[in-house]
Amino acid sequence: MSENGTVNWGFIGAGGLATGTTAKSLHNAHNATLYAAAARDESRALGLSPKIAYDSYEKLIQDPHIQAVYISLNNDAHLPWILKSLDAGKHVLCEKPMVLNAGETINAYAHAKDKGLLLVEAVWSLWHPRAQRIQELVSSKAIGSPTNYLGTFTFDGVTKGNYRLDPNKGGGALYDVGIYPLHALVALLDEDTQYSLTQAEKENHGEQVDMTMKAQFDFTNSHSQGSAAIVSSFAMHPSQRFVLKGSEGEISLPKDQAFTSFNQPSELTLMVNGHKHTEHFAPVDPYQLMFENVSDRISGSGGWLPNPWQSVQVAKILDQTFKLVRESA
Ligand SMILES: NC(=O)c1ccc[n+]([C@@H]2O[C@H](COP(=O)([O-])OP(=O)(O)OC[C@H]3O[C@@H](n4cnc5c(N)ncnc54)[C@H](OP(=O)(O)O)[C@@H]3O)[C@@H](O)[C@H]2O)c1
Repeated sequence: MSENGTVNWGFIGAGGLATGTTAKSLHNAHNATLYAAAARDESRALGLSPKIAYDSYEKLIQDPHIQAVYISLNNDAHLPWILKSLDAGKHVLCEKPMVLNAGETINAYAHAKDKGLLLVEAVWSLWHPRAQRIQELVSSKAIGSPTNYLGTFTFDGVTKGNYRLDPNKGGGALYDVGIYPLHALVALLDEDTQYSLTQAEKENHGEQVDMTMKAQFDFTNSHSQGSAAIVSSFAMHPSQRFVLKGSEGEISLPKDQAFTSFNQPSELTLMVNGHKHTEHFAPVDPYQLMFENVSDRISGSGGWLPNPWQSVQVAKILDQTFKLVRESA
């Protein structure tokens, strides 16, 4: 703990997300301190305004003052730094996709459990109060049993040279943005839900990664049965849609900010028996809420976290999607 009783964090990586957003979110968190940041170029680490800047990730994880690390590296670098950080005795919050397949996801959580440390996938949209409200509505059967889901996250314009276009760095639209609509659905269905891919389509647009990935699958558990469609893309007009139909109603998120509502008012629409009801949410920073909740959990004072099985389930759907695409090539 820091002198003022907050959790001391170390940031591994000072790329676009850390520099533009998450360092500020952590500085705003009431129970967390940005103690250190590490980047290959120390001046970029200093740009996050930590107490200490390092030019090596290894030096940061060996700093005994740090309790938790936040990893925002390119996707293929997540797993090695998760394991090294856990071995150095740090709790870990790692950017999405936490790791690149279900087997590695299961192993990473097993390693954290062995060490008695937290490992959390930083799917920031899940900490938005609106996501938590959808969870309440679905659990209370406000729309009956889920039967049909459409989730999209598409945009146009990944710059050349970005790791998102590099297959060796965990690039591609499904890993980058498809993961949001998948996490949103998996969070609402039971742990024992079975997911079965029925169709997957990939477009490369001359790149070596999936620029567009569309997947359809069925889901079944003891009280729901339905189908889902996901669209993720780096080569389509910006769109974020969440529409969940149930046996007795529908929940949808308007205004194309289903997964990235950040410091702006947001809404959800509930349609039951032909009656439309809109709920309004005040502006929040879900990254800040994420850091606060993880810090609370570390200091033993509550804190909401997603379940590890959600990340495993999402990773299994990703695995199935890539497999189906390979088989139908
Ligand atoms: N951008 C977003 O809006 C956003 C939103 C949510 C989640 N994320 C997630 O955050 C993570 C980082 O995304 P980003 O947008 O911040 O990426 P970025 O700007 O490209 O930054 C990449 C990071 O990877 C590090 N890195 C280490 N070795 C590298 C290498 N050989 N080549 C390139 N980079 C290397 C860089 O470290 P140094 O700082 O040491 O140079 C940098 O911190 C990803 O997992 C992504 O899915 C991003």
